[in-house]
Amino acid sequence: MKKCTIVEVKESVAGGYNQPVILAIETSCDDTCAAVLDSNGRRALSNVVHTQTEHERYGGVVPEVASRAHLERLDGVVEKALTDARIDLDEIGRIAVTVRPGLIGALLVGLSAAKGLAYARKLPLVPVNHLEGHVAAAYLADPTLEPPFVALIASGGHTALYSVTAGGLNLLGQTFDDAAGEALDKGARMLGLGFPGGPAISGAASNADDPERYEFPVALKDKNNLDFSFSGLKTSLLYKLKALGEEKVREELPNLAAGYEAAVVEALSRKLLRAAEIHNAPALVVAGGVAANASLRRTVTGECERRGIRLVIPPPDLCTDNAAMIGAAAATTLAIPFPDYLSINARSV
Ligand code: KG4
Ligand code: ZN
Repeated sequence: MKKCTIVEVKESVAGGYNQPVILAIETSCDDTCAAVLDSNGRRALSNVVHTQTEHERYGGVVPEVASRAHLERLDGVVEKALTDARIDLDEIGRIAVTVRPGLIGALLVGLSAAKGLAYARKLPLVPVNHLEGHVAAAYLADPTLEPPFVALIASGGHTALYSVTAGGLNLLGQTFDDAAGEALDKGARMLGLGFPGGPAISGAASNADDPERYEFPVALKDKNNLDFSFSGLKTSLLYKLKALGEEKVREELPNLAAGYEAAVVEALSRKLLRAAEIHNAPALVVAGGVAANASLRRTVTGECERRGIRLVIPPPDLCTDNAAMIGAAAATTLAIPFPDYLSINARSV
């Protein structure tokens, strides 16, 4: 069953927009997304996400399948974003689109559509970095937020800490191997849970009767750096599953999921708080798909309250991939005037 939802409409207004209204497109992975934002990019008038369910039976995203599904769906998703915002294509003043990083075929579908729409109307085009988009989701959640702040981006493809200033993102640390979301997806597959793994592991963990029964390693936790590593966690799960045997694993699934999830949450929250301390951050942002995780949100919120640190975590629907965050990032990204963007390309990294 295909899913197509409006994930966040801040306010519905009939007409009277300040030009130029932004139409944003995001197709970097397995979500086909379009959104309309007001001219300063801090208010979403519509935000449509079509999550491709075609990948579920493969237990992971298949790049070729993703590109084809974007191609089939994007027109309809853009149309719905315009309809939901009650705005005509002619009222759009700028087109924003994710150009990197992501699956190259998937990115190219969005970029080609964006170029076509912009060129036909002689509009400027704003090429957006997906990671900057995840950070910019925080501006939609709290329009009063301004840099500087420290941001943790934890998704299926990336796990990194940034110092965010008016000049952009400065990398403070990142994962040496798997991303946090990738570790959750792979762990869920080993446990025979569904895809995507993050919500599946959380669902199983919520039934744990002894969430501390199984302890999993938190790599680099006492190292004085701001990096992450999740490959050892995966290996540790593999050995535990072998040692327990099939029947016991079935019985212990909720406790195993809870222990595994707790290790990911501890790794992320420890390094975020360390970054806040080292960089004397006036505010923290947590974003990316894994920031939708309830346990991570609870842990970080509690720690920030204790320390009196301002924290912005976008609502779960703005943490996972969406186009509103791309439009929000576009508001602070240089637009390329018509027709200079025809030669720009997408990049996987
Ligand atoms: O940001 P995102 O939607 O796409 C990428 O840019 O990768 O992140 C997807 C990742 C997946 O690994 C998924 O398992 C994870 O975010 N995720 C979650 C939750 N929802 C999505 N992880 C933990 N808890 C969740 N509720
Ligand atoms: Zn993402």
